[in-house]
Amino acid sequence: MMRKVIFPAFLLLTATACGPPQSILHPEGPAAGNLSVIGWATFILLGVIAFVMWLLIGWAAVRRRGTLQEHEPYDEGGGQRWIFIGGLAIPFVVLCGLFVFAMERMSDFPISDHSVNPEIRIVGHQFWWEVQYLDGPVDEHFTTANEIHIPVGKPVDLLLESADVIHSFWVPSLHGKMQLIPGQPNYLRIEASRPGEFPGQCAEYCGEQHAHMRILVVAQTPEEYALWRQNQLKPAVVPQDADAAYGQQVFDDGPCALCHTVRGTPANGKVAPDLTHLASRKYIGANSFLNDKADLGGWITHAQTLKPGCEMPNLTFFDGRDLRALIDYLEVLK
Ligand code: CUA
Repeated sequence: MMRKVIFPAFLLLTATACGPPQSILHPEGPAAGNLSVIGWATFILLGVIAFVMWLLIGWAAVRRRGTLQEHEPYDEGGGQRWIFIGGLAIPFVVLCGLFVFAMERMSDFPISDHSVNPEIRIVGHQFWWEVQYLDGPVDEHFTTANEIHIPVGKPVDLLLESADVIHSFWVPSLHGKMQLIPGQPNYLRIEASRPGEFPGQCAEYCGEQHAHMRILVVAQTPEEYALWRQNQLKPAVVPQDADAAYGQQVFDDGPCALCHTVRGTPANGKVAPDLTHLASRKYIGANSFLNDKADLGGWITHAQTLKPGCEMPNLTFFDGRDLRALIDYLEVLK
């Protein structure tokens, strides 16, 4: 019994301790670092105040006082002094101090200058993220989904917009939350101090699958980032083997092409994630499932079971051959 409960619990604890940090306790960029300093300073200061308060309460409980018969006349002046100092003066000084400290830290925030052209436009959809790279000349713009790549050590300006309801972009290791509001562009400047994968999450309730609207920021060395970018700029890979080629036919002739775009092919739908380089992404379903054969198959035929309420319908009419070919095709799209 002990082993059955304690060992898994221990595993869970240690696993969460070293898992990928979607946590404000693991700042990996300047903005998140500043937020972390404000958080810890507030926590420590309020901890000290709480400690002193408990000491005072303890002292009030145990200190000697006169008996009921011969108690001293109530010291009104002393009582009022306590209320003035402890209840007004000290909280005023502490809160003003914290306010100034937080403001000073936040003024360091690398907040985007709105006149600057943002490198990446992120559009929130129920329940996924459209990611448009707008850096450089127009013929170097491209669209992807749910996975953002940035070069390490370089501030990247994001323009945040929404296609439907209010969402919120939150990658805690890199920055605080910022809302994506229909008709109201917002800006955020993110920067990662080291290479790595930084998971995030929609942080504004936006409907049934809000909890499965995840985002992944991949910070890469400038060389790796340049390679990734070069590949994303290319049109989709043309399938070489017969199965994958047949899969493309199924994709283009079926309902897939009505919603999804695969650049360089007839598939030109605009309401669902761009799949031109789907196979280069780590996850599917807004980072809710692995990008492997099993999950791709499950997603195509039973998206409404995996993620009820999302826009992807259950496509149960493909026979085994078509489904396998379709997956082969999707796996070619590196
Ligand atoms: Cu989008 Cu919650």
